[in-house]
Amino acid sequence: MAKRKVKFVCQECGYISPRWMGKCPGCNQWNTLHEEIEVSSRSGHVVGGEGFSKPEKITAIESEKEPRMGTSMREFNRVLGGGIVPGSLVLIGGDPGIGKSTLLLQVSSQIAEKQLPVLYVSGEESVQQTKLRADRLQVASNSLYVVSETNLNMIRQHIESLKPSLVIIDSIQTIYREEVTSAPGSVTQVRECTSELMKLAKNNGIPIFIVGHVTKEGAIAGPRMLEHMVDAVLYFEGERHHTYRILRSVKNRFGSTNEMGIFEMKEQGLREVLNPSEIFLEERSQGTSGSTVVASMEGTRPVLVEIQALISPSSFGNPRRMATGIDNNRISLLMAVLEKRVGLMLQNQDAYIKVAGGVKLDEPAIDLAIAISIASSFRDQSTRPDDIFIGEVGLTGEIRRVSRIEQRVQEAAKLGFKRVICSQNNLEGWSPPKNIQVIGVKTVQEALKMSMDSQK
Ligand code: TYD
Ligand code: MG
Repeated sequence: MAKRKVKFVCQECGYISPRWMGKCPGCNQWNTLHEEIEVSSRSGHVVGGEGFSKPEKITAIESEKEPRMGTSMREFNRVLGGGIVPGSLVLIGGDPGIGKSTLLLQVSSQIAEKQLPVLYVSGEESVQQTKLRADRLQVASNSLYVVSETNLNMIRQHIESLKPSLVIIDSIQTIYREEVTSAPGSVTQVRECTSELMKLAKNNGIPIFIVGHVTKEGAIAGPRMLEHMVDAVLYFEGERHHTYRILRSVKNRFGSTNEMGIFEMKEQGLREVLNPSEIFLEERSQGTSGSTVVASMEGTRPVLVEIQALISPSSFGNPRRMATGIDNNRISLLMAVLEKRVGLMLQNQDAYIKVAGGVKLDEPAIDLAIAISIASSFRDQSTRPDDIFIGEVGLTGEIRRVSRIEQRVQEAAKLGFKRVICSQNNLEGWSPPKNIQVIGVKTVQEALKMSMDSQK
């Protein structure tokens, strides 16, 4: 009898071992190695075409201006770097129920409305269920084809006979290849199916979107290598209790990463939000202590967001530091700076910090706004409602320069803010719009003085 070649694959991280082990050396998880039979049909495939490859001079290669396919959702196009690139494989991850299927069905219908055939493959829902959703979204186009299928070979046949301009696979965890023995959703299946879809996309020049489920920890289920294989990785996020949804690109071979598109989930599907700053500031209560506004860059776009702080004496030994939308460590660091450099007695105070609207911020330019919010709540003294704070705070309490100050200030001026408080070093080399005053400061102390003393 021919010898079967087996291997043991970790279902968490994709680690491959020739022997079974209780603990995976890759991710240190227990009992995650599962036996799988090796597929031996791989024979040195070349991306971009079967057969011979030949090195070419880079100057001799014609740079094709990729004709990107645009949807009518500008937010979606921007996150992709200006539309859908032919032959690209894009992974969209997100929690269950966040709206991935809704988004992709809307995208499909918008492409199909241009008389380009689109194939929507659903491995999770029947065609009737997809139809129900389509009715709700008022999607009706003769070029949109729907199939409920999980066998990749069948999907390939559908793609080859229909020759669509766009393919959606919802979701990768339900698709399987017959040649692979492991269950759908296992690391091996997901990897094999993705590489097969990659070939299909590249060889036929068809863009393929695949939906990936997210695990409890927030990573796309299956191995990290899935993210390495595809051309772009988008995350669709949002809090279940908010109607806002954020589409974020974390990898993009054809555009900038950290782009962000904002949508709102309505009764009839997702609607793009073109003026996020207005939305994030909508519910702001002016003139209360602990609230400031920052202009943060999300990719290439400045967004104004409110940062709220609540500082109150702690009743237990260990003061609490809780933050939503910002890293906890940064809060501790800023509180230490305020204590040491400004002399605020914060060590026995609980601190709760929140970025309003459910956004996550992680650039250093938000430091100053956080620090001012904390001080404002601690002193129970409000800041001026038409001030914006932009700057990184160093350990000696100095305010440091941030990138793209001009765009941030313009956004603030557009929304009617009157003063921007930023680093002194940020003042050179540009001139602010006329209707806004830009004040340069050197230290947190100076910034606090500027923002609060004029309030009394
Ligand atoms: P869905 O696209 O099925 O999420 P996913 O594919 O990421 O699991 O979205 C389901 C949620 O969206 C569900 O809670 C209902 C809501 N929804 C709307 O609010 N409006 C709509 O028009 C649609 C289609 C869904
Ligand atoms: Mg779905």
